[in-house]
Amino acid sequence: MSLLSVSDLYVEYETAAGPARAVSGVSLELEPGEFLAIVGESGCGKSTLLFAIAQLLTYPARVVGGSVHFDGVDLTSLRPEELRQHRWRDFSVVMQSAMNALNPTLSIGAQLVDVCRAHTDWDERRIAERSAEVLAMVSIDAAHLKSYPFQLSGGMRQRAMIAMALLLEPRLVIMDEPTSALDVVAQRSLMRQIQALRERLGFSVLFVTHDMSVVSHFSDRLAVMYAGEVVELGATRQVFDRPQHPYSHGLMDAFPSLLGAPKPLTGIAGNPPSLVDPPAGCQFAPRCAQAMDVCTLVRPELVQEDGRAVRCHLIHPVDRP
Ligand SMILES: Nc1ncnc2c1ncn2[C@@H]1O[C@H](COP(=O)(O)OP(=O)(O)OP(=O)(O)O)[C@@H](O)[C@H]1O
Ligand SMILES: [Mg+2]
Repeated sequence: MSLLSVSDLYVEYETAAGPARAVSGVSLELEPGEFLAIVGESGCGKSTLLFAIAQLLTYPARVVGGSVHFDGVDLTSLRPEELRQHRWRDFSVVMQSAMNALNPTLSIGAQLVDVCRAHTDWDERRIAERSAEVLAMVSIDAAHLKSYPFQLSGGMRQRAMIAMALLLEPRLVIMDEPTSALDVVAQRSLMRQIQALRERLGFSVLFVTHDMSVVSHFSDRLAVMYAGEVVELGATRQVFDRPQHPYSHGLMDAFPSLLGAPKPLTGIAGNPPSLVDPPAGCQFAPRCAQAMDVCTLVRPELVQEDGRAVRCHLIHPVDRP
């Protein structure tokens, strides 16, 4: 059984112009110990999806369809106090902005103590030992247990969040650009630490990033999102080396090749569609150089074949209506 199973999930933001569909029919599975990366340009719904999975969405966002099962339990059906029991202990979340996630009025140590008290019967000494241990894992000196979030740099706050996320050795760690406030060297070193911990502890990772080199080095599978939908999902190497969806193509072309000669950064012309009034057919059709008539008329399904899934009429032709 999958550790995490997201099925046909829909999320809308209530806006003055009407409901904006930020996540649209997303389904994905995560196996124990697996690292799944999610990529896609800004605004395509990556953070909204992670928040929806972790049951952290607040108004004006709401889940309007689908389910999220963690270890067989439907998280959407849990009461807040039941959810609190799972969070930190079974799954934890590292937000895009660590400053917003840490409590500004409590020292880092006090926040770690709170999490331990809520979920374990550890005594003070055990809590202190474990707190120092997780800070060491992310290369923060135990002296900073006494520091308040505002006394730490952005990068240290992100690492403190990661330490907190690993505190109780959960089975799933959800991370939204956890290394974005770090320089390249610190990023690499933190990713290696996360990888080593994952190998030792066996937790799964759901990881949002803009950094394709992180994706290619650390993720087992890769999901490409566009306008709230997963448009391609498969083994990272496969999606990297032979992207099938034209949007994935454009995305991969936008990053310098890791192995081959550097190529010019082309990017993808145009902008994502309105989420309030989305196009009738394929969401990417207005920007797609290969779009056919059918693409503007019929919304393609995400079709699974040979372990990879693609949402594109070029790859999986349909009969015209
Ligand atoms: N509070 C809100 N009200 C209305 N729309 C929102 C709100 N928050 C986000 N959105 C919209 O939802 C869509 C998805 O946003 P989200 O933050 O999930 O994207 P993202 O992929 O995480 O982007 P980024 O890479 O910049 O972090 C965006 O188009 C955004 O404009
Ligand atoms: Mg985001």
